Amino acid sequence: MKKIQVIIVDDCQDTRETLGRLLTFEENIEIIGYAEKGSEALAMAEKLQPDVVVMNINIKIKMPEMDGIRATELMRERVPEANVIIMSRHEEVDYLRRAMLAGARDYMVKPFSGGDLAEAIVRVYTPKKLRVASSREVLIEKNKTITFFSTKGGVGKTVIATNVAVALAQKPSLKVLLLDLDLQFGDGAVFLNAIPQRTIADIDYSGSLNDEDIKACITFHESGLDFLAGSMRPEQAELVHIEAVKQIIAYAKKTYDFVIIDTQNQFEDMSLLALDEANEIWLVVSMDLPTIKNSKLCLELMTQLGFVNKVKLVLNRAGADVGLVDRDIQETLGMSSSFKIPSDGKAVIGALNSGKPFITAFPQSKASEGIMKIIETLTGIKQEHVLHKSWFKKFWYKIWRRK
Ligand SMILES: Nc1ncnc2c1ncn2[C@@H]1O[C@H](COP(=O)(O)OP(=O)(O)OP(=O)(O)O)[C@@H](O)[C@H]1O
Ligand SMILES: [Mg+2]
Repeated sequence: MKKIQVIIVDDCQDTRETLGRLLTFEENIEIIGYAEKGSEALAMAEKLQPDVVVMNINIKIKMPEMDGIRATELMRERVPEANVIIMSRHEEVDYLRRAMLAGARDYMVKPFSGGDLAEAIVRVYTPKKLRVASSREVLIEKNKTITFFSTKGGVGKTVIATNVAVALAQKPSLKVLLLDLDLQFGDGAVFLNAIPQRTIADIDYSGSLNDEDIKACITFHESGLDFLAGSMRPEQAELVHIEAVKQIIAYAKKTYDFVIIDTQNQFEDMSLLALDEANEIWLVVSMDLPTIKNSKLCLELMTQLGFVNKVKLVLNRAGADVGLVDRDIQETLGMSSSFKIPSDGKAVIGALNSGKPFITAFPQSKASEGIMKIIETLTGIKQEHVLHKSWFKKFWYKIWRRK
């Protein structure tokens, strides 16, 4: 079988050698060249026609004649068959969006393991025919605004919204925005471990907003997700003008393939706007009587407001041994659940405390499986859990779960 031919580009010799060593034992990968500079990488790629180029982003002065982003742009023009994977350090993640726009197909944030790099190489090297087919499949479901809502706090809206958004954003062909409209106590930033420099409350609204005002408040997350945080303090929430949010949603709809909106658990101006603007409303329900009672009232009100046809039920902590089963909920609400996320404290809370979404921290967990099924439905693409597929990781995950 033909091996995947790879060129490695990094200005540091030690890094080039380390990467080479990491990939030595990958039997389906062959390193056909090493380059120090962007220009050298381009010339080499034109000559050798690699399948994959692993390139350091090098946004600093180290590669003054051509940084990794420019080299990626030229690579796409001159060697279109080569799939570029960009490597960056944590403090450079803001530049990753530019790298993806320049044509990179994936990126890795250092430090990463040889297994992670090998998986990314295999992932981006999909035969062209398959790639065209899968991008068509993705197109079917693009341009969707999903608003997460619930009638009770703590049912899991934010944790599910964040993980769905991150899982979608990991697909290189998709642009995804997570908009936190839980303006007083939104904790999307905590679940993403992001420190937004600016939030919606920083937008100075005086009648109209231009795209640049909105872009300036978006935080770029290392998963590829764009995140627009609610205010950082509850008292700032009232600074946010509803007309500004309307314009933000309009901008998001024209710019992103998926807009995921998190809300607070009340029918108030902002959440009503988010419900109105949504193509789908995902009502998150947990398996306890107060939530179910309130969800019933919520569905009645949504019927009156004309929203009910776009409601989908997301059952969280499904399967937990709490004296209620799915059928009870279905009978009471007169609606069956579209998606189920199992109760999985170790993965969900473990990931939260480690500062990562569980979909990336514990991709083999039951909760991640639930998210992957959602992604499968949204994109029409069968999920292979390719990110961290190796039996070795599964094995350690199982051991870790038993602890
Ligand atoms: N499937 C699950 N398994 C285990 N723990 C979960 C699960 N879903 C949510 N949790 C935990 O429940 C807590 C509440 O979740 P989350 O903050 O997402 O709820 P919420 O609906 O957004 O609440 P609020 O309305 O107050 O913003 C979090 O600590 C989260 O980690
Ligand atoms: Mg929340």
